[in-house]
Amino acid sequence: MFICLCNPFNDKKVSAHLSNSGGRARVGDVYRACSDGENPNCCQCLETLKNIVKNHNETIAT
Ligand code: FES
Repeated sequence: MFICLCNPFNDKKVSAHLSNSGGRARVGDVYRACSDGENPNCCQCLETLKNIVKNHNETIAT
C-alpha cells in the first residue's frame, strides 16, 4: 500500500525503516528516510504516517 504519492514510498518501506531504527521514531525522520531525503509536498500522507509511527512508538514503550 502506498503511503506517499508525492515522493512515492509504501508501507513496507516504512516498516523496514522502523524495524531497523531500533527505537522510538519521529515522523519527520521517517518521512525523509523513506523518501530519500525529500520533504513532504501535499502532506496528505502525514496523518497516516503519524498513526503508523505512533503505533510503533507505543509498541516500543510497552
Ligand atoms: S502524498 Fe505524501 S506529501 Fe503528498
